[in-house]
Amino acid sequence: MSETWWRGAAIYQVYLRSFADGNGDGVGDLAGLRARLPYLSDLGVDAIWLNPWYPSPMADGGYDVADYRDIEPSFGTLAEAEKFIEEAHELGIRVIIDVVPNHSSDQSAWFREALAAGPGSAARERFWFKDEPNDWKSIFGGPAWTQVPDGQWYLHLFAPEQPDFNWTNPEVHREFHDVLRFWFDRGIDGIRIDSAAVLVKDFDGGDPDGYTDLAEVHDVYRSWRRLSDEYDERLLIGEVWFPDQERFARYLRSDELHTAFNFDFLGSPWSPAALRESIRQTLATHGRLGAPATWVLSNHDVARPVTRYGRADTSWDNGDRRDGAPSDLELGHRRARAAALLAMALPGSVYVYQGEELGLPEVEDIPDELRQDPMWRRSGHTVAGRDGCRVPLPWSGQEAPFGFGTGTSWLPQPEAWKKVTVEAQGADLGSMLNLYRAALRIRREELGDGTLTWLDAGDDVLAFTRETGLTCVVNLGPGPVALPPHDAVLLASGPLDAGELPSDTAVWLRTS
Ligand code: NOJ
Repeated sequence: MSETWWRGAAIYQVYLRSFADGNGDGVGDLAGLRARLPYLSDLGVDAIWLNPWYPSPMADGGYDVADYRDIEPSFGTLAEAEKFIEEAHELGIRVIIDVVPNHSSDQSAWFREALAAGPGSAARERFWFKDEPNDWKSIFGGPAWTQVPDGQWYLHLFAPEQPDFNWTNPEVHREFHDVLRFWFDRGIDGIRIDSAAVLVKDFDGGDPDGYTDLAEVHDVYRSWRRLSDEYDERLLIGEVWFPDQERFARYLRSDELHTAFNFDFLGSPWSPAALRESIRQTLATHGRLGAPATWVLSNHDVARPVTRYGRADTSWDNGDRRDGAPSDLELGHRRARAAALLAMALPGSVYVYQGEELGLPEVEDIPDELRQDPMWRRSGHTVAGRDGCRVPLPWSGQEAPFGFGTGTSWLPQPEAWKKVTVEAQGADLGSMLNLYRAALRIRREELGDGTLTWLDAGDDVLAFTRETGLTCVVNLGPGPVALPPHDAVLLASGPLDAGELPSDTAVWLRTS
């Protein structure tokens, strides 16, 4: 295979419901996205990853898929999706979609058939129906089993509306091969694999939780890789959350996935030692496998970086989301700017979650009655969940919905967002948006995949040089530091202080 496009790509994550609303119903859609493609082209991204766009009752924001071969009507039509793929390609932007193989929707044809067919039927064998549940808990809270009227129980690692597939059934394997081909044949350039490590279950003990990272899951991805290799340059990216780098690395073997999200980097606290170690380990693990590293600061499941980096504890952990913990947003903003320059300078590909380029904070005061995330309900209203990072984008104007569309947006936007619209930030040279634009432009010309050389700049400072001579310096210490010798300052996340690099600031230097 030729030099592959994703090794150094900047990939923008579109959470379609919240990107732009083209038909005025308050929910983002394909018409809105198509109208805003020039924005993404100007921003300078190489690819878009879209969260699930399939027909869905939206019990989990589209991760409850009712039909893998069509488009959610409130988002548009299949014909529109095809048009969108074509238009993105014309702009040189590749398209990655989400595939959800662990579970479907309780409204899918297969699950409805399974309910109707009853115990012992072939239709039930596509899911996990049992006469007795075990003690597994749902990742969203509460039991992982729900009883149906005939007395059997079905497994759902997430919400009850998301029944898990039985991956010991060859029909499930065939179905997903067919789904992959369906989309690859329509020109999709890559697949993001949801909950990639939990497909295979072992109910008879052995593994501590019986479903995380069982050996057979790798057979699934080997077969997907064989399939994707039949096409030209199609990316498989896994959503694999593991602190353990060795287990993580197994997904990146040369006959499995091409890449996986770097959640270790995302979860690292704003600490020079922790970040240096995360980068070092990432590069060592990926280098050994010849796989490109990925650099991720946020996504639709995680509190926004501006809020995270302003908290007393700046690390991220899905199990302890620290919802509502006090945050110094000014400090968080400064650090998020520096983190962006760090992530974009590192060797590999980088992901930008919509709104990250606007420096949006987590919205933590959504009224309870408007909250949509099943985590909120399933946790007995103890975990606020992920709505706060999914609030529709502010595009322009002084009042909600800030150019998102014409109708009331499905989640309310803070009034203060009039200051951070795309329109307002476009006019401000010092804005987060213009920092991302400038960084992505430089990155496209001379960063991306490759190697780095660390420079010794003291314990509080991360400093490294890339092949082109671009040097990135990030000061995570309490006071300003001197810059290493350089010819020019290319870009800085904040003003320099008499030629020195202030605390929580990053700079890209030209060195010869
Ligand atoms: C991971 C997705 O990113 C998340 O949003 C979803 O709720 C779960 N997988 C279940 O599909």
